[in-house]
Amino acid sequence: MGLLGCILALTPVASAQAPAPDSAAIDAKAHALVSKLTLEQKIELLGGVDSMYTNAIPSIGLTRLKMSDASVGVRTWGPTTAYAGGVALAATWDRDFARKLGESLGKDARARSVNFLLGPGVNIARSPIAGRNFEYLSEDPFLNSALVVPYIEGVQSQGVIATVKHYAVNSQEYNRHNVSADLDERTLREIYLPAFEAAVTQGHVDAVMNSYNLINGVHATQNEFLNLKILKGEWGFKGILMSDWDATYDGVAAANNGLDLEMPSPKFMNAATLLAAVKNGSVKKATIDDKVVRLLRETLRYGFLDRPQFDPADSTYSIADRAVALDGALKSITLLKNEGSILPLKRAKIKTIAILGPNAWPAVTGGGGSSDAQAFEPVSALTGIASAVGPDVHILYAPGLPDMMTVFRNSRWTGAVTVATYPSKDFTGTPETTTDRRIADWKREWRGPADKSPRSIRYTATYKAEKQGRYVILEAVSGRDTAQVSIDGKPLVSPPHAEGQTPQFWTIELTAGQTVNVVCDYVPSFAGVRLGLGIAYEPELIAPEVKEFASRADVAIVVAGFTSQTEGEGADRTFGLPWGQDLLIETVAAANPHTVVTLTGGGAIDTRRWLDKVPALLHAWYPGQEGGTAIAKVLFGDQNPEGKLPISFDRSWEENPSANLYYPIPGADTSLHVEENDRKPVDYVIPHVKYDDGLMVGYRYWTSTGKHALFPFGFGLSYTTFSFSKLDIPATAKAGSTVAVSFDVTNTGSVAGADVAQLYVSDPSAKVKRPERELKGFEKIYLTPGETKHVTLNLDARSFSYWDSTAHKWAIDPGKFVVLVGDSSEGTPLHGELTVSQ
Ligand code: BGC
Repeated sequence: MGLLGCILALTPVASAQAPAPDSAAIDAKAHALVSKLTLEQKIELLGGVDSMYTNAIPSIGLTRLKMSDASVGVRTWGPTTAYAGGVALAATWDRDFARKLGESLGKDARARSVNFLLGPGVNIARSPIAGRNFEYLSEDPFLNSALVVPYIEGVQSQGVIATVKHYAVNSQEYNRHNVSADLDERTLREIYLPAFEAAVTQGHVDAVMNSYNLINGVHATQNEFLNLKILKGEWGFKGILMSDWDATYDGVAAANNGLDLEMPSPKFMNAATLLAAVKNGSVKKATIDDKVVRLLRETLRYGFLDRPQFDPADSTYSIADRAVALDGALKSITLLKNEGSILPLKRAKIKTIAILGPNAWPAVTGGGGSSDAQAFEPVSALTGIASAVGPDVHILYAPGLPDMMTVFRNSRWTGAVTVATYPSKDFTGTPETTTDRRIADWKREWRGPADKSPRSIRYTATYKAEKQGRYVILEAVSGRDTAQVSIDGKPLVSPPHAEGQTPQFWTIELTAGQTVNVVCDYVPSFAGVRLGLGIAYEPELIAPEVKEFASRADVAIVVAGFTSQTEGEGADRTFGLPWGQDLLIETVAAANPHTVVTLTGGGAIDTRRWLDKVPALLHAWYPGQEGGTAIAKVLFGDQNPEGKLPISFDRSWEENPSANLYYPIPGADTSLHVEENDRKPVDYVIPHVKYDDGLMVGYRYWTSTGKHALFPFGFGLSYTTFSFSKLDIPATAKAGSTVAVSFDVTNTGSVAGADVAQLYVSDPSAKVKRPERELKGFEKIYLTPGETKHVTLNLDARSFSYWDSTAHKWAIDPGKFVVLVGDSSEGTPLHGELTVSQ
């Protein structure tokens, strides 16, 4: 044996290792370990430590277990590979890629000794403005379920516990710690739970994370119905149920209602509370034991007691990871418009290319918050396109717009701004009044001590418009601060912003010489002022070189959309593009008819001002670190676009079915504050959000009302064309039996490409009202020109079922069903009928 052989033989190599199956032997071992612990030691295991670990108990050889976020990369422990995760993964509609992504994340975790990956997130994209849609998957429970299973299997196959989150109904960021998502059981079962159910019952996920929000008035972490009845009861979940970070509110209630692990520290499920509770009988010893058994059972199954979690076979940086990151970006980019086949661009015809927009550089890889990954070598659209065209093509680049701080600082208020600071949270009492040049310019004082003395600040200013036209108002608040901006006494948005509505932007029309009064009512929840407010004449936002560069180029690419600053956790985003970007696109399009827009963002975005003025539009979602390379490949036809919309693309926020139901119902919203460092709600009135849109989420709404989305769920263009034919379904079937549906898909164009065949089921004879159609099968198919593939999709009992709210179970109404097949929710050329009998 040579030297290298010796070294290898002596090095204990911990290879990637899937967990051992659950067994009576492991159960017995876990119980035996628990019996060696004192009650105090057991309670120690119910709370996290150092933000991202479980506790160690050296006497039984248990080391602390390490965690990391998650949605786009293993991001907590330094730079990492940032993938096209979340909504971009959903846009791939590719189960194999979901598994590959899971495996890569698992390997990245092992390379960093991480035991728990805090993902995937699978909440439903109910509303385009919900700030974490980009981390989640789609608006459809079937698509989410289909992707989450291979993803989890991929992660866990590497010896890493996946954590499906946020259980449950975390479909908005607005006031996320306090808000109650109120919904009926049928909506819960048919829309909001299936991805969690699939994660547990098919993906065998070993950890689940509760959400911040309340569900029907009860916090997730102490919600008996969700945690005990459904998760641990019906679905038989035997793994670990952990809280989101600081989402526990009551130690005894959480202990008794299913929570196994309070993260990041035991503020409530601690010795002080639980020892007393066990003593007085309000928490049973067996309840504590069960939580510890769960942690130890997974520890044993994964071999965490016997092997190091660091796997030298995996590396923190690898070329293989980069290839997976590129693959995801290529598969997810979705082509929404391509008038006159302007794309793919013909290299030979391009001498000068203008690359314009704030998102062209640096690379926009993901959204903001706990998923925000510091990517290795992120490729921006600018550098990606430049590399693709080579040195002979002249590049004209300009971001074209100022950043947020510049807008705040350059706001020219007329005269002094009055700053009145009240000794209360509601602008009562005698204020201390000073003046300033600005309203506030976003001093982000995050770290100071929380100031418990009540305070509210009213800024009053006037603004005189020098010219007629559109003015942009830009506002940012942070943390749990709230702000309400009024122009001439009229609030811009109601209710006021509460935790995370930052930044917001509005455009208003003013005439030359018009003076408006601007009032900003700001309630800080912390010592410092974390507010910015500015106003600008929209045309003055656009840099002068934009028009010149656009007009001199053979083709202009506008790289616009959201970033980690404008879309992220703890904040809802606007439906409209960030400040000035609409006008930027209009300006470029007016100067160059060959304008292509590429967007980043977690869902639908307002395109009304410019869509009919530009020939081509790509949605890049958040494409990860290889996004720039992928965008260039799509633009030049080295990649035929194959992404399909995982959400319905609305024209306006108002036409989204949740728009009038998004904010808490008035009157139930009197106290928005749970103080930042004081999570216990005191004098707390729950703000209730009624999910009265029920089942009518996304395409279920559009197809049931007969109206048309701007771009329907499932839609995405290709550089080739496809046709569907030869639908074959049985005329009859017995309820509960498997029904095979088959058809042909042909590539009728001249280049190779991929299409996603989608199967929707309609139940016109149902006794209850059902959505007009629901996705129940899909398959991504790669075809060379002229090639035909025969596809068979199997429908199971659930494909025909709805949740019977009276019997509290899934039910099939015998009778006529219609099967629709095509490549979008509104494009289903094949229809067939079958009769289902009892
Ligand atoms: C997020 C979770 C995340 C956790 C740990 C929370 O703020 O909601 O999704 O896993 O932080 O970083």
